[in-house]
Amino acid sequence: MITEENPSRPIPYLKGAPFVGSTFDFIRDPLNFLLRLQRRYDRLVQFSVVGRLITLTLTPEDARHILQENNKNYLKSEAYQVLQMFLGNGLLNSEGDFWRRQRRLAQPAFHRQRLALLVDGMNEDTSALLKRWRQNDPTRPVDVTEEMMKLALAIVTRSLFSSDVSRYLDNVSRSITVIIETAYKELFNFFPFTRNLPTPRTIRYRRAVEKIEAIIYEIIDRRRNERRTGQYDDLLEMLMEARDEDTGEQMTDKQLRDEVTTIFMAGHETTANALSWALYLLADHPEVVRKMREEIDRVLGPDGLPTVETLRELTYVMQVIQETMRLYPPAWIFSRQPLRTDQFGEYRIVMPGARAVLICPYLLHRDPKYWAAPDRFDPDHFRPERVRERPTYAYLPFGGGPRMCIGNNFALMEMQIVLALLVRSFDFQRVGRKEVEPEPGITLRPKGGIRLQIVPRL
Ligand code: HEM
Repeated sequence: MITEENPSRPIPYLKGAPFVGSTFDFIRDPLNFLLRLQRRYDRLVQFSVVGRLITLTLTPEDARHILQENNKNYLKSEAYQVLQMFLGNGLLNSEGDFWRRQRRLAQPAFHRQRLALLVDGMNEDTSALLKRWRQNDPTRPVDVTEEMMKLALAIVTRSLFSSDVSRYLDNVSRSITVIIETAYKELFNFFPFTRNLPTPRTIRYRRAVEKIEAIIYEIIDRRRNERRTGQYDDLLEMLMEARDEDTGEQMTDKQLRDEVTTIFMAGHETTANALSWALYLLADHPEVVRKMREEIDRVLGPDGLPTVETLRELTYVMQVIQETMRLYPPAWIFSRQPLRTDQFGEYRIVMPGARAVLICPYLLHRDPKYWAAPDRFDPDHFRPERVRERPTYAYLPFGGGPRMCIGNNFALMEMQIVLALLVRSFDFQRVGRKEVEPEPGITLRPKGGIRLQIVPRL
């Protein structure tokens, strides 16, 4: 009973199996496990995974409370600590005053005006891909997931470093895959102390980290040696030039390494997955493609390239991107560790005890309370009048509050450019009718990749 002394009701707890709780249900099929919980509970539910008490939040209001209104009560949780060895103390997983200072230093590099300088590079990398695809045999299916990963990596590399580092790219791509996959597996490790032992898994992880670190230090070194301020328009230049307003201090090499590595990783897997899912969905929705082409032809003409100004007019292309990330949010779940007990209406998340509070865009984006046809791909979900009707936190592909993705405008700009140019030049066709399943890891990948036929338009 709720009384004044005890103003809370217990949060429903899903018992699961003896000793292991819900560990195996969660690991085996996290998306369906969570969707089942969403159907059964309306606000909060707790369960245990690998001995940790997890609280799943199910409403936009609670997402807003955690990410924005009461964000000071929450730290990034264990999921981010697993990435620490790779990302060091970069923006994604640092905390407190250190994070605040770094965010202030990095923010100007991501202002729209500054990002405008990166548009030409994005156009150039996408045009190079178009040229290559035109030489393909159109009857041979292409793994678009792999292609989008390479393209997004080329774009983020150019945006960070200007210089051509393509000779490193294959190496980097493989190493990042090892790191991301290992980090996800480590979340479910019953024996976290093994992270510090030389197991085959940790050795592979360490080697992958060292490879990327070596490349990044080499690039920073080279830049320091050839230093002439203002020579480059890239993100590295902005980060190297940034000065703390109060102390005038700049980032050390180690801080630069951590921020650059973070942007490098956060800035291409996510975008590449969203682009692959978009092409997959478009292959099944010719009416959406037709509307996109009308807009692209009107705004860009038959062979114009996007600029920052014309990107603003590609509103339907933007709706397609938003709708793709609604169904397949690359950051499909994220978690926080509460510092102190927190109240959610009649419920209370009690500390110490609760290990992680989950916010799951994948669930919120498919909640029938906020979406007319939750499972249907319909870019009209993002018509301005419909957006206004929904609570803001019903859609949060980039998170929210002060820790919201710093690269959101970068990502949206890149995806608009890539999709507009690809859709104008090619038809994308499904190979067979088999549905591609989403594979939840640190990001939401298409399981087994997406293979499509890519046919040039005459
Ligand atoms: C479709 C693409 C992307 C998606 C869906 C995405 C999603 C997210 C989300 C959800 C967060 C917040 C995580 C949390 O609160 O726990 C985040 C943070 C971050 N993202 Fe992105 N991201 C994308 C692209 C990018 C790009 C292109 C960059 C950089 C070029 C980037 C850099 C970062 C950084 C540095 C953070 C940490 C920010 C902070 O805590 O201050 N992201 N991203």
